[in-house]
Amino acid sequence: MPKDSAPQTIYLADYTPFGFDVDSVHLTFDLAPSATRVTSRIRFAPKPDATDKTFFLHGEGLSLISAKIDGEPVTPELTAEGLTCAVPNVPFTWEAEVQIDPAANTALEGLYQSGGMYCTQCEAEGFRKITYYPDRPDVMSSFTVRINGPHPVLLSNGNPVASGDGWAEWHDPWPKPAYLFALVAGELVAHRDTFTTMEGRHVDLALYVRPGDEGKCAFGMQALKDSMKWDEDVYGRAYDLDVFNIVAVDDFNMGAMENKGLNIFNASAVLASAETSTDTNFERIEAIIAHEYFHNWTGNRITCRDWFQLCLKEGLTVFRDAQFTSDMRSAPVKRISDVIDLRARQFPEDQGPLAHPVRPESFQEINNFYTATVYEKGAEVIGMLKTLVGDDAYARALDLYFDRHDGQACTIEDWIKVFEDTTGRDLSQFKRWYSQAGTPRVAVEDSFEDGTYTLTFRQHTPPSAATPDPQPQVIPVAVGLLGPDGAEVLGTQVLELTQDRQSFSFPGLDARPVPSILRGFSAPVVLDYAANDAFLLAHDTDPFNRWEAARNLGKASLLAAITQGDAPDAAWLDGVAGILTDATLDPAYRAYTLSLPGQSQLAADLANAGTTPDPDAIWAAHEAHRAALAERVADALPGLYAAHQVDAPYAPDAEQSGKRALGNAALSMLTRLDGGDTAQAQFDHASNMTQQLSALSNLIRAGRGDAALAQFEAQWKHDRLVMDKWFGLQVMEARPDDAADTATALTKHSDFNWKNPNRFRATLGAFAAHHAGFHAKDGSGYTLLANWLITLDPVNPQTTARMCSAFQTWRRYDAIRGSMIQKELTRIAETPGLSRDTTEMITRIQNA
Ligand code: TRP
Ligand code: ZN
Repeated sequence: MPKDSAPQTIYLADYTPFGFDVDSVHLTFDLAPSATRVTSRIRFAPKPDATDKTFFLHGEGLSLISAKIDGEPVTPELTAEGLTCAVPNVPFTWEAEVQIDPAANTALEGLYQSGGMYCTQCEAEGFRKITYYPDRPDVMSSFTVRINGPHPVLLSNGNPVASGDGWAEWHDPWPKPAYLFALVAGELVAHRDTFTTMEGRHVDLALYVRPGDEGKCAFGMQALKDSMKWDEDVYGRAYDLDVFNIVAVDDFNMGAMENKGLNIFNASAVLASAETSTDTNFERIEAIIAHEYFHNWTGNRITCRDWFQLCLKEGLTVFRDAQFTSDMRSAPVKRISDVIDLRARQFPEDQGPLAHPVRPESFQEINNFYTATVYEKGAEVIGMLKTLVGDDAYARALDLYFDRHDGQACTIEDWIKVFEDTTGRDLSQFKRWYSQAGTPRVAVEDSFEDGTYTLTFRQHTPPSAATPDPQPQVIPVAVGLLGPDGAEVLGTQVLELTQDRQSFSFPGLDARPVPSILRGFSAPVVLDYAANDAFLLAHDTDPFNRWEAARNLGKASLLAAITQGDAPDAAWLDGVAGILTDATLDPAYRAYTLSLPGQSQLAADLANAGTTPDPDAIWAAHEAHRAALAERVADALPGLYAAHQVDAPYAPDAEQSGKRALGNAALSMLTRLDGGDTAQAQFDHASNMTQQLSALSNLIRAGRGDAALAQFEAQWKHDRLVMDKWFGLQVMEARPDDAADTATALTKHSDFNWKNPNRFRATLGAFAAHHAGFHAKDGSGYTLLANWLITLDPVNPQTTARMCSAFQTWRRYDAIRGSMIQKELTRIAETPGLSRDTTEMITRIQNA
C-alpha cells in the first residue's frame, strides 16, 4: 500500500531489544474473502532489565474490533504503523480481534487470495498486516492456530492437533518469529509421501496443489526427500516435526518461503513435468526445494536478530543449496553457472548506485534488500571462509553454531565467533566482507628469475557511496602452475591476500610456468591479469579456469570487434572448437564453453575501460561471433547434434540434461546454417519441453516462428506456467528494433494478467533484460518499462521495486541515454502516492 508519510531510515546501530517476552500465541482465523476476522490471545511478560518498556505492536491496514488485557477492554493508541497501550508490569494476556480484507490484497504480503485459495507471505514484515504483534525476528514464540473456513484443506505451521468439518487446529512447538507464520486454505489436492529421519521420526510429507496439477508433483517430492537425507548426511541435521507441507501458489512475489513446516512456493518453483518444464526448470526447482528445506535449521531453528542480519540465514542457505546441487549433479558445472549468475546480477549491483554491504547498515524498506549481494555474495563469503579454515574446521564450526545457537536469534558476530572459537583465528579483517560494499579488483604481475617464479598481487576496491574508504580484505586466491608443456608443476594452493600489495614466490622451477589464478573462482573479485588464455584453455586442470579461459578469449574477441571492428579471433574459434568436439568432456561443460559473456556485461566492461557502450554494436558483435563459430564448426555440427539426442525416456538428471544442453547448443548453430529446418523437425517431434522450447526459440530467431508460436499457444493455453515461457521467449528472441513492439503487443494479449508477478516478469522482466531492445536509441524501452512500473506500483510495490534495478546501470551509457533514463526515473519518483519500496529504489538509483 502506498505510504504518504516521509520515508524513515532504519539503522543497524539503533537496535534495541523488545521490552517483553512472548510466551505463547493463540490465533483464530474466521475466513471470509473481504472480511476475515483474526482473534489473537498472546501471553506477554515484561523483561525486568528492559531499557525500552514501551508496549508497541506493529499493525498495518487492520480494522481493530476490540482489545483486552487480562479480559478487560482497553483502548490502545493507533497509528498507521501500529499501536501502543498501557500495560501491567507483570505477565499479562493480550487479546485483540481485527478484521482484514484478503480479497483486496494485491500486494501479496500478509493474508491474500490466489486462484481461489487463501495463503500468506509474512517475511519480512507481512505479519503486521494480519494482526497486531511485535513483528520483529528476535521475538520468538510457540504458536497455536485455529482456522475456521469451509475449505477442505486448512493448514498452518507445526503439527496438526485436531480438525473437523470447517475447522482445523495446528500447534507449532518450536519458538519462531512471526515472519515464519503461514496459513493456507483452499480446495487443494495432496501428493503424499513419507520420510523417516535418522532419529527415527516418521514424517508425513505432502505437496498441495490446485486440482489439475497433480501430475506435476513427483519431482518436487523427490527433491524434498533428497534434501532431507542430504542435510542429515552432510550437516547432521534432522527434521523436527511430524509433518512437512509444501503448497504451490500461482501469485507469489518471490521463489518460495521457508515458513516452519509449511513452505509456500511460487508454482513456478515447484511444479514440474517433462512435458511442461525444461531441464533448467527442473534444476532450479530442485535447488529451491533444497534451499527452503535447509532453512529449517539455517533460518528457522537459528534465526536473525534483526533484518540487517539477513545474510546470516540467506548467505548460509544459498551456500548449502549450492553444495547440495554440486553433490547431486556436476560440481564444476554448478560453479560455472553460479559465477555466470553472480557476474550478471551481483557485480552490477556492487558496482553501481545500489551497492550495499552483505550486511547493510541502513534501509528504508527491507524488502529492497533481498538482493544478489545478500544472497549470492553472502554465499561466496561463506565459501571463502570454508576455503580459509579448511573443510574439517568448517564442519566443526557449523556443529558449534547449531549447538550454541539453537533456538536463538543471532547476528553475524555470533557466526564469526564460532569460527574464531573453533580455529583460534582472528577473523576481524575477514569480517570486512560483511561491512564493505564493492567488488575488489585484484591486479597481478609476475616475474621469473633463477628458478623462482613470483606473483605480485595488488588489491583495490573502488570507493562507493556505501563504502567511501574501503580497506584491504582477506582474499583467498587459489593458484596452480603449469609447465611449458602444459603439465601441472604445482597443484592448487590457496594464497591469502591481506594487504594492498603482496608477493608470493615459488622456487625450484625449471622453466617459467604459466599461472592459473583464482581457480574455482575462489573469491568474488575482478581479476586483472593478461592470462595466457589459449594455453589455459588447452591445458588447465582446473575445470573452472579452463572454462574461464574460453570465456576470456571470447570476451577479448568481442571487445575487439565492438571497438575496432575486428573479425572474431581465431584462437577463440579454434579453442572452443577443440572443446566442442572433445568427447571426453562432460557435454554440459562443453555447452557452457560455447556461451559468450552477456551483452550487458560487455557494456560494463567497455564502460570500465573508458569506452561508451553502443548496445546495437554489442548486439551485432554477438551475432557475428555466433555466426563465425557456427561456420568454424559447420562440418562437425550434424554429427554433434545427432550424438546428443536422448533416446531413453525423459529424465531431468544431470546426464540427460547435459546431453540436451549440448545438442541444443549445436541446434542453435545449425539453425544459422540450415535456416531452421532442423529446428522445425525438432519442434514437430518434441516430446518434452526442453526440446520443444529450444526448437521454438531457434525458429523465432530464424524468422520463421509464427506457425510454431501459434501451435504452441493452442497446445498450452490452459497452462499458466508454460504460457509464461511463451510470453517470455518472444521478447527474448526479438530483434533489437522489434523488442519494444513485441513486448507491447504481448501486454495487449488477452492472457496478459499484469497483476500476476510471473506473467509480468515473463514479459516486462524479459524486456528489461533484452539489452539492445531495452536500451534502444530513441528511449522507447525506458518509457515502456517506466509506464508499466508506474501501473504496477499501487498494486504490488514489492515486485515493482525489484524491477527498478533495470535502471541501475544508467551511468554506463552515453549522455543522451543517461538523460532519458533520468527523465523516466524522475517521472516515476513524482508519481503521487508512490510506494515506500519504489521510492527508495528510485532515489538510490538517481542519487549515487
Ligand atoms: N526467505 C525467502 C527465501 O529466500 C525469500 C522470500 C520469499 C521473501 N518471499 C519473500 C523475501 C517475500 C521477502 C519478501 O527463501
Ligand atoms: Zn532463503
